[in-house]
Amino acid sequence: MENATQTVRAYNESWLSLNGRQPTVFISTFGCQANVHDSEKISGLLHEMGYAQATSETQAGLVIYNTCCVRENAENKLFGHLGELKRAKERNRELRIAVCGCMMQTDAAVEKLLRSYPYVDLIFGTHNLHALPELLLASIESCGQVVDIWDSSDDIREDLPVKREHSFKASVNIMYGCDNYCSYCIVPYVRGRERSRKSADIVRECEKLSSDGVRELLLLGQNVNSYGAGLGEGVNFARLLRRLNKIDGLERIRFMTSHPKDLSDELIEAIVDCRKICRHVHLPIQSGSDAILEKMNRRYIKEDYLELVRKLMAISPDMRITTDIIVGFPGETEADFEHTLDVVRRARFSNAFTFKYSKRTGTPAAAMEQVPDDIVSERFTRLLGALNPIVYEISLSNVGKVVSVLVEERNPVDPALFTGRAEDNSIVHFSGNSAKIGDIIDVKITGCKTFYLTGEAMT
Ligand code: SAH
Ligand code: SF4
Ligand code: F3S
Repeated sequence: MENATQTVRAYNESWLSLNGRQPTVFISTFGCQANVHDSEKISGLLHEMGYAQATSETQAGLVIYNTCCVRENAENKLFGHLGELKRAKERNRELRIAVCGCMMQTDAAVEKLLRSYPYVDLIFGTHNLHALPELLLASIESCGQVVDIWDSSDDIREDLPVKREHSFKASVNIMYGCDNYCSYCIVPYVRGRERSRKSADIVRECEKLSSDGVRELLLLGQNVNSYGAGLGEGVNFARLLRRLNKIDGLERIRFMTSHPKDLSDELIEAIVDCRKICRHVHLPIQSGSDAILEKMNRRYIKEDYLELVRKLMAISPDMRITTDIIVGFPGETEADFEHTLDVVRRARFSNAFTFKYSKRTGTPAAAMEQVPDDIVSERFTRLLGALNPIVYEISLSNVGKVVSVLVEERNPVDPALFTGRAEDNSIVHFSGNSAKIGDIIDVKITGCKTFYLTGEAMT
């Protein structure tokens, strides 16, 4: 590992002395928080190899696409970008293109790349991201394509450098993979078996982050509620949270994603006791119909879900719940869909990611009878019609309150304003001359739209 890193670095240093500029990389990430965090690791490895960050694809000497295949439109994004890059590659033969991430763990996608996008230089997967230095070196030293995909990985690599996007908030993997096999979902096939990191490694990483100035942690796993299973440490997610809550300097702890089937009373007690845990839980329901939930292999029913919502809401009047909903899962009837609308009305989500079901080859649901597109679209519109007024009402209930906001950036549209996140994860645009990026400050909320709040800093 060391050697490949040093050799690429030496190439890059001689390139720098010849051209007077450092070689640059542009990384584009199409997936979820786990993918975004993988890109931070890729960026860490490339930084060690002597690459600087480019501001756009067309400025870069190396372009890396970190892909997602959870839905078809995520896959289409990659092909759109690759199509555009073809001309750039014709103009600049030195441009190197690499594609990695979840989509590369499916045979169909790799075959399509090899067939239709032969100008891609390097292809690797989710299980061998740590081998990037060797792979990049092989790509630089060979004239042809380099393709290396592993089927699985048992080990967890603790030694990878990370180049973080923000200094004040950070994502931390607590586990990898997924064993739940929801019948619509490709993630278990492309991310492998569920593996929890040792709690001591997680605590050490979080302590270091805190001493480096990180105020907010986002703990990542496809099902954080099953953290610790199979680890043999006698630790579970609730106990891990209690341990992390003690780290000095940290102010906020978030986590995603919680699977309803594994959300325990012990976890609810931990949220009650640990004040650093944000009063916001992302709890995907997927569907409100028991029949569909069973076909999805979610292992809970509508009433179990609503009971969890009641328990969570009882923690604090400030508690907010967000969710993921899939419309048009195979076999979904009008009556099934009505159950989803019913949950939306009763659970009163403060926000929701809504998706049209997307058929993923190789998953059990792909072989089930599909719902016609026009019905899916019509239900999707009705779902938003039920959801958005509730999201707006909850947003409106913040007006007049003082909320604590982590200041994240200057507002990209109006540089007179700042943008940050409230504890419940709402986006807040606000004015305030003395606001400093990375601080958590009080903001008086003066207005709202469905998906954001506006306000004035109190200091
Ligand atoms: N592990 C997380 C979700 C990861 S995928 C969990 O279980 O909650 C993020 C979301 O994508 C899922 O919650 C689901 O709503 C959606 N999703 C996954 N597969 C999908 C598919 N085939 N079609 C449409 N949406 C899908
Ligand atoms: Fe996919 Fe289900 Fe695993 Fe989430 S829990 S990643 S939806 S299989
Ligand atoms: Fe995430 Fe997409 Fe992979 S949602 S785990 S990047 S398939």
